[in-house]
Amino acid sequence: MFRIAVLISGTGSNLGAIINAVETGYLRCKISAVISDHSGAGGLKLAEGKGLDTFVFSGKTTSDNIFEVVKEDTDLIVCAGFLSILKGKLLEEFHNRIINIHPALIPSFCGSGMYGMHVHQAAIDYGVKVSGCTVHFIEPGVDTGPVVLQRTVDVLYTDTAEDLQKRVLKEEHIAIVEAVKLISKNRIAVSGRKVLIK
Ligand code: GAR
Repeated sequence: MFRIAVLISGTGSNLGAIINAVETGYLRCKISAVISDHSGAGGLKLAEGKGLDTFVFSGKTTSDNIFEVVKEDTDLIVCAGFLSILKGKLLEEFHNRIINIHPALIPSFCGSGMYGMHVHQAAIDYGVKVSGCTVHFIEPGVDTGPVVLQRTVDVLYTDTAEDLQKRVLKEEHIAIVEAVKLISKNRIAVSGRKVLIK
């Protein structure tokens, strides 16, 4: 069975979407670990309630600690609202095997400091007509890896950042599950910056 580790920092609604897809059989995967950089992350309670193995790591050794958990038998690491920057051996050993979901259409509204509601506020302030979400592979830069898939939403004139976040989050839940499914079925090939869906 394809084994995934899910990394979270907050509420864990994307984790919830993955759990739901596993439970319904849409994803033929096992969630081998749920790892957070924040002991108060709501998603940890969700994971514990489902009997999943959970871990909390923070500080300078976070990437190394995560590596120790995932190194033996993890096929894919899924950053589902994980806010720490991954680095070192973890990135080297899991090259093109770590994905992240970002709540905007990369390369817009991404990079350092662009997370959560900041992203939606920036999109509203800029006045874009379309926003969305991006699933991408993680490489050493922030939000710079090859794009696996994107989903779009309209931005309405009257939208607040909260309105936009709600609309984008619905698409994130679809996108993250779809990306895991494609990768778990070996339907993704990466060539430089381009990702082919087979
Ligand atoms: C999601 O909107 C995710 O895209 C974002 O954090 C939220 C987590 O929500 N991630 C980033 O901003 C990373 N740059 P969740 O905990 O409910 O899944």
